[in-house]
Amino acid sequence: MQTALITGASAGIGAVYARRFASRGFNLVLVARSSEKLEDLSAEIASTHAVEVEILSADLTNPAQLAAVSERLSKGDIDVLVNNAGAALLGTFEEADAAAMERLLALNVTAPTLLASAVVPGMVKRGSGAIINLGSVVSLMPQYFPGIYSATKSYMLTLSQGLSAEVGQKGVYVQAVLPAATRTEIWEKAGADLSQIPNVMEVDDLVDAALVGFDLREAVTIPPLADAGLWDALEQARAVFPSGLGGSPAARYLNHS
Ligand SMILES: NC(=O)c1ccc[n+]([C@@H]2O[C@H](COP(=O)([O-])OP(=O)(O)OC[C@H]3O[C@@H](n4cnc5c(N)ncnc54)[C@H](OP(=O)(O)O)[C@@H]3O)[C@@H](O)[C@H]2O)c1
Repeated sequence: MQTALITGASAGIGAVYARRFASRGFNLVLVARSSEKLEDLSAEIASTHAVEVEILSADLTNPAQLAAVSERLSKGDIDVLVNNAGAALLGTFEEADAAAMERLLALNVTAPTLLASAVVPGMVKRGSGAIINLGSVVSLMPQYFPGIYSATKSYMLTLSQGLSAEVGQKGVYVQAVLPAATRTEIWEKAGADLSQIPNVMEVDDLVDAALVGFDLREAVTIPPLADAGLWDALEQARAVFPSGLGGSPAARYLNHS
């Protein structure tokens, strides 16, 4: 039986991933701070699926608690890591509180990086495994979402693409999932009013679509993007690198004075 470890499983997107992997017959390791919510989800899953559910209560911004989750991943029996726990931070960079930015970076950047790093060696050794990283479409249009949230999600996309290039040939599949606005508590927690946002996706639809992309082994899955050709065009545009790069400054940067 395979096992999936899902961070941020106590609510929203992570809780739906937990239900879906349980229905695919995976044993689960559920990670979040709220052990009560994880216990409730575990009981719900146990009543409907014959899978084992382990609960790992951890604040991923706390280095010691993050290390405990990394240690669990290093045991070598995790087949799928869903790097989902995350938060949003509203407001501009200019107004941002340094401590709040530090917490966001710890949760959205440091934690998924170290968790992936803990699980990858075992997956490479076994020649199999998968990592799902939750990014966001705001990484592609940061001008619409000021502050550092977009940058943290951009990091998830770049991390996924780089990791995929490194371990894809070694049997490890890496998927970046880029949702747009999805109906979860993240908005309210950040102080945003979801009713002001157009085209909000239901969370079950988001995860089901992301899992279609997972089964297709897509590198990047963008559930709300109707025309997949737009993403392909963006990727093709990126192909100017590295062939367009030279060893000397481009002519426009030469100092003619
Ligand atoms: N919803 C959207 O519109 C949207 C759009 C694009 C991307 N995303 C991304 O999708 C992911 C999931 O978001 P969501 O919408 O499902 O959010 P959510 O409903 O607020 O759930 C966030 C999850 O992360 C956990 N979490 C938060 N802080 C944590 C901490 N310090 N340590 C451990 N766990 C923590 C929460 O559990 P506890 O509070 O119990 O710890 C919860 O299980 C995030 O990475 C987010 O950036 C969401």
